[in-house]
Amino acid sequence: MDNVINGRVSNLNHRVAHIDFQFIRNSVTKHISIEEEVDSILHFASTASPKDYSSYPIHTLTVGAIGTLNALRLVRSKNACFCLASTSEVYGSPLESPQNEAYWGNVNPVGPRNVYDEAKRFAESIAMAYMREHEVNTRIIRIFNTYGLRMRPSDGKVLPNFIIQALTGKPLTIYRDRSQTRSFCYVDDLLGGCYRMLTTSAASLDLCSARTINLGGNEEISIYHSHIE
Ligand SMILES: NC(=O)c1ccc[n+]([C@@H]2O[C@H](COP(=O)([O-])OP(=O)(O)OC[C@H]3O[C@@H](n4cnc5c(N)ncnc54)[C@H](O)[C@@H]3O)[C@@H](O)[C@H]2O)c1
Repeated sequence: MDNVINGRVSNLNHRVAHIDFQFIRNSVTKHISIEEEVDSILHFASTASPKDYSSYPIHTLTVGAIGTLNALRLVRSKNACFCLASTSEVYGSPLESPQNEAYWGNVNPVGPRNVYDEAKRFAESIAMAYMREHEVNTRIIRIFNTYGLRMRPSDGKVLPNFIIQALTGKPLTIYRDRSQTRSFCYVDDLLGGCYRMLTTSAASLDLCSARTINLGGNEEISIYHSHIE
């Protein structure tokens, strides 16, 4: 299900012919109705790049709040498993690095760039509330920078930016100071981690307090140095 606000239907061309695949064009902020049995719901819908959540701040908050609530209502009614795509941005401007899952973050709730952080923080909070109050089988993955096929060239993220600028012979843009670092994860690895999270039993996750996990690459790269190497 996607309302295609910042996605592309053509990204699904390699999937549409598959007999088990069905695409529903709908916003998750509207009522979600599915007649069939449902095993798992993966809530990945969001305006997700800084460019997009700056252009659509209210939508970003709405999809994190109402969209997540709608997804959780469906999960509960189907007795399904829930996986929320959260983000490293829940840590805001972290006062410790690297951040482990026990760190609570440092977020300005009224900052213009923080709508995304707050949307995901609310989404995490309500997912855990549904788990505690309604015993919904919840898993939360905090995704760190992930890249892969079919990213939008104009996404605004560093890898598509660098690739497009290199291909068109333009200087590479380094935002703010030169101290920025990133860890990158290839999308297939991310999905592998997501699948493992979904298929690990709730009891095993609880045993190591792992309902919420960071998922991403573990090598931290300097953006400035990577562009001159
Ligand atoms: N890619 C990353 O590095 C990264 C990092 C942290 C978190 N995440 C999270 O992972 C998820 C997927 O990210 P992505 O990089 O694939 O982004 P993406 O923009 O490629 O995918 C998000 C999709 O959600 C859709 N969407 C937005 N609002 C919607 C709505 N109201 N109803 C239905 N669909 C809606 C968009 O049209 C888009 O296709 C997002 O929740 C994002 O916040 C991604």
